[in-house]
Amino acid sequence: KKKIAIMTSGGDSPGMNGVVRACVRMAIHMGCDAYCVYEGYEGLVQGGNLIRKMEWHDVRGWLSEGGTLIGTARCMAFYERPGRLTAAKNMILNGIDALIICGGDGSLTGADKFRAEWPSLIEELVTKGELKPEQVQRYKHLNIVGLVGSIDNDLSGTDATIGCYSALARICYAVDLIEATASSHSRAFVIEVMGRHCGWLALMAGVATGADFIFIPEKPSEDNWREEMCSIVRQHRDLGKRKTIVIIAEGALDKQGGKITPTMVKDLLADKDGLGLDTRITTLGHVQRGGTAVAYDRMLATLQGVEAVRAVLEATPETETCFIAITENKIIRKPLMEAVIDTQKVAKAIQRQDFDEAMALRDAEFSE
Ligand code: F6P
Repeated sequence: KKKIAIMTSGGDSPGMNGVVRACVRMAIHMGCDAYCVYEGYEGLVQGGNLIRKMEWHDVRGWLSEGGTLIGTARCMAFYERPGRLTAAKNMILNGIDALIICGGDGSLTGADKFRAEWPSLIEELVTKGELKPEQVQRYKHLNIVGLVGSIDNDLSGTDATIGCYSALARICYAVDLIEATASSHSRAFVIEVMGRHCGWLALMAGVATGADFIFIPEKPSEDNWREEMCSIVRQHRDLGKRKTIVIIAEGALDKQGGKITPTMVKDLLADKDGLGLDTRITTLGHVQRGGTAVAYDRMLATLQGVEAVRAVLEATPETETCFIAITENKIIRKPLMEAVIDTQKVAKAIQRQDFDEAMALRDAEFSE
């Protein structure tokens, strides 16, 4: 009987429990034993009761639970080879044949590295006498499949990451709430949203709430962003709008690569010599990440979880590590490292302030 383990890693996202439920149940359905690795890579390194066999009923009700019930962690030990060596040993001692990892690009890059290193890790364990040759016989290579769980929707090659639509829904809900009080007092609100280096949440929230102005990292504001924003807000006010909503991505930048902060925007809106608006800042923070998954993320988690188990069972030593994507409404397998490299290209373009390149890369993703 094959033993398939599933773990969640990096920042949690709504829908991760749906992934675990789908993988556990599909693995059992396919005649395998299902395991969960608790606390992300930390669980692999520590082993013991952090690697647990799961039954069908163990994941009952998990679709409607927020966060990740098997825990997640940023594990420093796994960044170093000795940590990965211990992780490999724990996997073999537990008889794990294959690993499904749900996380962001960092966690998935770690997974690919682990798989690439696997043969040498096994050799080292045998050479050091930690495992006997007959113990490792069955585990000559490691099958790994990735699922992208992140609220940021920042991985290239997939239209949506698991959790991004839940976070977007939460942001829209919060903006709706703020609008009521903003309108009552005729106030302006600068609302900071998450997304790390990616402006997807801010951009889509801006579209979905009809915000007056947005700031995102990929398309930094022109040198005259102050005049531009004030002029647009002024026009909207002149049309009789009693509220002003500016959404700012946490990674927002200006053309010189300088950070645009909520305070900078607030001071401008409040400037007595300009608009002079009574302005407040709201940082939505982790409410965007918590709570239950919206229907779309539950559906994505379930369909992709099922496909991940299929993929991990069909993988051979020759196949590249894949991740499960959704493209044009189809659940498909794609090479993991290609997506990670493309994602890093955008981040690097932003870092060196080549914003035209960053935008071109993002455009290419959407027109793929
Ligand atoms: O990647 C998800 C995310 O929520 C980002 O949007 C945000 O920048 C980051 O994680 C926050 O991380 P932490 O929860 O460790 O503060």
